[in-house]
Amino acid sequence: MKTLIKNGNVVFKDCVKKKDILIEDGKIAAVGDGLSGADEVIDVAGKTVIPGIIDMHVHLREPGFEGKEDIASGSLAAVAGGVTQVCCMPNTDPVCDNAVVVSYIINRAKEVGLCKVRPIGAITRGEQGESLADIGKMAKAGAVALSDDGRSVMNSNVMRLAMEYASDFGLKCLCHCEDKTLVDGGVVNEGYNSTLCGLKGQLRAVEDIMISRDICLARSLDLPVHICHVSTYSGVDIIRAAKASGVKVTAETCPHYFILTDDIITGFDTFTKVSPPVREERDRLAVIEGLKDGTIDCIVTDHAPHSRKDKEVEYNLAAFGMSGIETSFALSYTYLVGSGALTLPELMRRMSYNPAKVLGLEGGEIREGAVADLAVVDLEESYEIDGEKFFSKGKNTPFNGYKVKGRVLMTLVDGKVKFDIRKI
Ligand code: DOR
Ligand code: ZN
Repeated sequence: MKTLIKNGNVVFKDCVKKKDILIEDGKIAAVGDGLSGADEVIDVAGKTVIPGIIDMHVHLREPGFEGKEDIASGSLAAVAGGVTQVCCMPNTDPVCDNAVVVSYIINRAKEVGLCKVRPIGAITRGEQGESLADIGKMAKAGAVALSDDGRSVMNSNVMRLAMEYASDFGLKCLCHCEDKTLVDGGVVNEGYNSTLCGLKGQLRAVEDIMISRDICLARSLDLPVHICHVSTYSGVDIIRAAKASGVKVTAETCPHYFILTDDIITGFDTFTKVSPPVREERDRLAVIEGLKDGTIDCIVTDHAPHSRKDKEVEYNLAAFGMSGIETSFALSYTYLVGSGALTLPELMRRMSYNPAKVLGLEGGEIREGAVADLAVVDLEESYEIDGEKFFSKGKNTPFNGYKVKGRVLMTLVDGKVKFDIRKI
């Protein structure tokens, strides 16, 4: 079966050019002008073809929390967002801390057959921070990284051992940085707005201390480490300095950290509650600067779908997290490319190419011989975000009513159309 994507403005690693893409057996067989000889032709004149987004920080909730999301609904939400590959976090029930759960997720995702799902194994048993999970067995079963996301591994020796074991199996630790002893019940950023609202705040140091600790370990051990969802200006500074001195550190951030400030909490909307919390303008600008200069390698969503009952409670009691996988492209395009902070190829390197490199995954780039994971987007179409229209079970977006540009029209995984907006 040969498919031809004709006349698209194709986003390559360093440029955008009008080209045809010929797909054969799930791979990009040719990229060129005036290509022909396909069984199926998809004319995308005037539209843009991007490499499929690789979202390396997603919560799919299955097994155990299927009321919030499951692998089927999360995969559909992913392809609707132009995402062809997700890495799912292990804070499920049971926790993904063993090979059985890793295999379950891989098999269930294959049955669903939409996007590629790569499980992340827990660092510690039950994400309890005490003893290491079955790292070797999870690696053999197909886990692509390790994380206790949702919390930090507070014991530095356990974290040291985790980094060493992970490296023995070719895996990286993805660190959720939150000093449990300092967070002390804080639910938002500590500052003017937390005082105004009477909500308990979290210092930037809650995050920065653990970023520093994990960088210290990586430096001492000469091993790689990846810092999750960077939200503080000071965290960006710490990572930039570490990179400059040769530490093998990579980092990610999310759209809510480069678009929002904690002004949004003053409405007490629990959809704005997230961990780490959204911070202040100084932080937002530093995160953008970090994305521009390469301090922050990747854009992810931390897609954290929650059910109504988890959010329709008072602010202090509400679950942390935002549903984000369906809006990440449009938000990133609008706020980073639209503002001139990044070019479109630069954006796609942060959403596709770099995540693939950080985790050693396939995809992330449009070139001959690469896997045919692609999305077609309309950069001219603007629309208003409405969480109620999400395919995800999690309707908890803080971006309701935001006008964005960049509609995902079609998503192909291994050369097969998995989402087509015309068929919705
Ligand atoms: O806000 C968050 N929600 N941050 C996390 O680290 C975990 C996530 C979740 O699982 O809901
Ligand atoms: Zn996290």
